[in-house]
Amino acid sequence: MTIAKLSLRDKDYELPVTEGSEGEVAIDIGKLRKESGAVTLDSGYGNTGSCESAITFINGENGILRYRGYPIEQLAETTRFTEVCHLLIYGDLPTEAKYEEFGRKLTYHSLIHEDMKKFFEGYAITAHPMAILSSMVSVLSSYYPAAQSEEDVDMNIIRLLAKAKTIAAFSFKKSIGQPFVYPQNDLSYTQNFLHMMFAVPAEPYEVPEVLDDALNLLLVLHADHEQNCSTSTVRMVGSSEANLFASISAGINALWGPLHGGANQKVIEMLQRIQDDGGNYKKYVNLAKDKTSDFRLMGFGHRVYKNYDPRAKILKTAADRVLEELGVNDPLLDIAKHLEEVALEDDYFVSRRLYPNVDFYSGLIYRAMGIPTNMFTVMFALGRLPGWIAHWKEMREDPSSRIHRPRQVYIGKTERDVQPMSER
Ligand code: CMC
Repeated sequence: MTIAKLSLRDKDYELPVTEGSEGEVAIDIGKLRKESGAVTLDSGYGNTGSCESAITFINGENGILRYRGYPIEQLAETTRFTEVCHLLIYGDLPTEAKYEEFGRKLTYHSLIHEDMKKFFEGYAITAHPMAILSSMVSVLSSYYPAAQSEEDVDMNIIRLLAKAKTIAAFSFKKSIGQPFVYPQNDLSYTQNFLHMMFAVPAEPYEVPEVLDDALNLLLVLHADHEQNCSTSTVRMVGSSEANLFASISAGINALWGPLHGGANQKVIEMLQRIQDDGGNYKKYVNLAKDKTSDFRLMGFGHRVYKNYDPRAKILKTAADRVLEELGVNDPLLDIAKHLEEVALEDDYFVSRRLYPNVDFYSGLIYRAMGIPTNMFTVMFALGRLPGWIAHWKEMREDPSSRIHRPRQVYIGKTERDVQPMSER
């Protein structure tokens, strides 16, 4: 067995070393505190492996992303989102029979309980759809209590996957004051979502293929990304044995932040701001470099990728194709490309290895598809759902898994006595 050696205050310690299937090396510090009294300190968990996982592999230095061993480029080119859901959650791409069965279940559980519709009446018309999605997913646990058997767990997984898109589409309809459109059993997963979003009860609506394909691609590309902030949140909450809906609802809230999934909304707002300001993108590149300003180039940089994000590469090409097919000429796409060009040649970005990430081009495609900006992060959540579920399930089934409880290094006051109020 390989071991790592640590010297601390004149004593030597031996730490076991684990190696992953792609050669990644990890020093196991699980017993370090017991033996030496020391903890490790790693702000933002930048170099901490929180678990062993067989779901997704990323090599950030080389821009590699694989779900269960399959390269993202191949999955993006050839698979439907529901196949990828099956792959992530159950470990392999489905056979034709399993695919049909899985798709059938996802279709037949798309409706939400009629009583749940009443909740929508209580939200402010200005409610952010992420607030609605996260709270409604939590509410699902009051309709479908915590599962005991594996069969029940599986049913709740299906329900969540099937109903989240209905909740998302209903939140959009609520925000524009239109009646809800119910899912239809003759439509696929992606078609159903688009139908619920864009159909109007009085008019016939056929889902355009270009929208269906674009949505499928976006969902596949967002489906998992190993231990990111929201997935780690799902695992953290789930580690206390909180139910599936509660754990995923927490993940949705973690995704909402602008440094994570909320970045796709912020990218479009930034591009719009640049356009409104006369299109001077160089000014904004300089602003992003200026350490006295808190402006960042949204959609740039990544904790793990120190190379071009492979998802952004695919989306950049897709943005050109989808906008052309839809006949959309969006000046924000030109601004985005100029920004990228300038940033990729600028020493500030080059030396820090800051490249466009998945959020840089995704919003431009959602916008061309007619999806409003405040729904972008909801779209990310719909895509990430199978990843969150797969991680929750993997953790639940791992016998070595235990409640997540990090340590800290206390830097506050040492012990002192409480003074009477008159003497403070
Ligand atoms: N614009 C300007 N400077 C940046 C940017 C940016 N977008 N991102 C990082 N930097 C600088 C940062 O100031 C720091 O500089 P210095 O070394 O001089 O202090 C250096 O690059 C390293 O950045 P960091 O903040 O320490 O890196 P991190 O790994 O903690 O943060 C990040 C990663 C994604 C939060 C960050 O790059 C960022 O804020 N990007 C913009 C928001 C964004 O696009 N988020 C989406 C991430 S991808 C999808 C997802 O995860 O949901």
